[in-house]
Amino acid sequence: MEIFNCGAINDGHIGKNIGLYGWCRYKRDHGGKLFIDLADRYGITQLVFEGRILKDAEKVGKEYVLHVEGEVRKREEDTVDKTNPTGRVEIYVAKLSIISQSKVPPFELIEEKKKFLANEELRMQYRYLDLRRREMIRKVEFRDKAAKVVRKYFWDNGFLELETPTLVKDTYETGSKTFLVPSRTNHGKFYSLPQSPQIYKQLCMMSGLDRYFQMARAYRDEDPREDRQPEHTQIDVEVSFKDEKYIQELMEGMIKKVFKEALGKELKTPFKHMKYEDAMRDYGSDKPDLRFESKIADITDFAKKSDYNILKRVIDAGGRVKAASFDARFGQKDASFDKNYMLKTIELAKNLGLKGLTWLYVKNKRIESDPESIAKSLGEHACKEILERLGAKDGDIIILCSDTSEKLLLDVMGKIRRELGRKVGRFRSEYELLWVDHFPMFEKDEVTGKLKPAHNPFSAPTLGTEKYLEKEPDKVLSRQYDLVMNGTELGSGSIRINDADLQEKVLSLIGMNKESIERSFGFMLEALRYGAPIDGGIAIGFDRLVTILYGEEDIKEFVLFPKNKKYESLIDGSPTLIDRKRLKDDFGIKLEDV
Ligand code: AMO
Repeated sequence: MEIFNCGAINDGHIGKNIGLYGWCRYKRDHGGKLFIDLADRYGITQLVFEGRILKDAEKVGKEYVLHVEGEVRKREEDTVDKTNPTGRVEIYVAKLSIISQSKVPPFELIEEKKKFLANEELRMQYRYLDLRRREMIRKVEFRDKAAKVVRKYFWDNGFLELETPTLVKDTYETGSKTFLVPSRTNHGKFYSLPQSPQIYKQLCMMSGLDRYFQMARAYRDEDPREDRQPEHTQIDVEVSFKDEKYIQELMEGMIKKVFKEALGKELKTPFKHMKYEDAMRDYGSDKPDLRFESKIADITDFAKKSDYNILKRVIDAGGRVKAASFDARFGQKDASFDKNYMLKTIELAKNLGLKGLTWLYVKNKRIESDPESIAKSLGEHACKEILERLGAKDGDIIILCSDTSEKLLLDVMGKIRRELGRKVGRFRSEYELLWVDHFPMFEKDEVTGKLKPAHNPFSAPTLGTEKYLEKEPDKVLSRQYDLVMNGTELGSGSIRINDADLQEKVLSLIGMNKESIERSFGFMLEALRYGAPIDGGIAIGFDRLVTILYGEEDIKEFVLFPKNKKYESLIDGSPTLIDRKRLKDDFGIKLEDV
């Protein structure tokens, strides 16, 4: 007897006797006739039990695994399910075997039109049940499809898929938060799990393996966020003897292919470019969401002339006033939404460190406010100028913020712009991709005041700015480029330093002394002294890519077995305590009481 999957049976099989394996997703007893929806990765097929076999079917519970044999029959016209590819037929079961039983699942797995509401932690704990749901199967398949397109693209372009090690040297001195792995064969010594294959892919270039790619696992013990997991997958790429233009075009070609083949959508290339400095000034972020415009404008000059004392005080103390407008169009129609939401936005601004935020709206080509007194004290003239500078129109919401620290002001406005713009949701397109470049080579650590690399310490300085390395390192730009999609950093890369002395200099500028450079990166500097090609590359966050393409926000949805907010794996309970004796005997580690 031919075995089919649960998504394969249709009109063409009517009259045939077939076999199926699957899970009992749903059972309905109609007295004298019993129906079971049998499910697997491929779909759902309706089984019908009547007569002598009914008694056996009654014993079946939800998520029991079944093997059935029976005849395919056409369904009555009024019971056809047009939403299901197998919905025109049903199987009259002649033989039923229960392969295995199931406890009652902790949440419903049935497909529903409305949003699936099961508790997220429970879904993670019973991920093998969650993954049986059609929605999850679609996501798993989507990720697989995108991965296939990516691999084929690089193979077709002459790249080698190379596997770099995942037990690597710890390079703590660069401020990294790595996962450590104790060595049993070398007591007291540790590997670390790679935060990326960065050094190894450069070593591949030095090995002459000039076109590398890898769907690489990377591990980072950073603070959790919606778009972060402690282990993620990167589409990691490195090439020799090419420049940034080549690498960017290569990646645009890849993403265009993924759009076309995994999503069925055309994507326009080349992508936009924006300098880091412009992104920070106009959008308060190095990853602006360009699905909406809402540029941040400096309106200090207008605010100075107004009677709005709160702003004037900040300006007198050397501060600036900035504004942005949002095509909200909810202004007058839905008062409860606009006012409450704007009050929440004021709270958000405060929580982010600003003293406050003023919001206004545009009605009949005039700026108005709630309470009225704000627009009044800004004055007719300033209001008109603000309207013009922002290009604001009826229905727009305008936010005004001021602070003596321009950096803080832009940073908070950037975050509020992102929140407000997304909430309003008036997007000019579904996907906006952008290269951000001309990054500074270093940034100052806010706590220690020490220099740290803006990307990683291997990015080459932009030609012509190297001369500032010694005395004015904040003027040095790097050959880094970030790829931003819908306001998320999708990828980052650079042209690398291929000169050992320059590499050593950069490491010393970020505060490493000779010994620590030698200890952490001596092996790499040595390799650079044996003929290093010009090389550059990039890594794209694969989990982020598929999440955004699919139109979701939480990357956990696309990670097969994700970790929770505390980076615990609920499915297996890790991390776990390890027996002290084993730590001592196997690894030579003695734990202090914690
Ligand atoms: P970077 O550190 O920017 O660059 O990482 C590349 C991309 O990986 C994704 N990503 C993450 N995704 C999920 N969870 C995380 N915790 C996480 N961390 C990073 C992001 C990010 O843009 N070696 C360099 C690349 C290079 O220069 O070639 C690197 O790793 O999408």
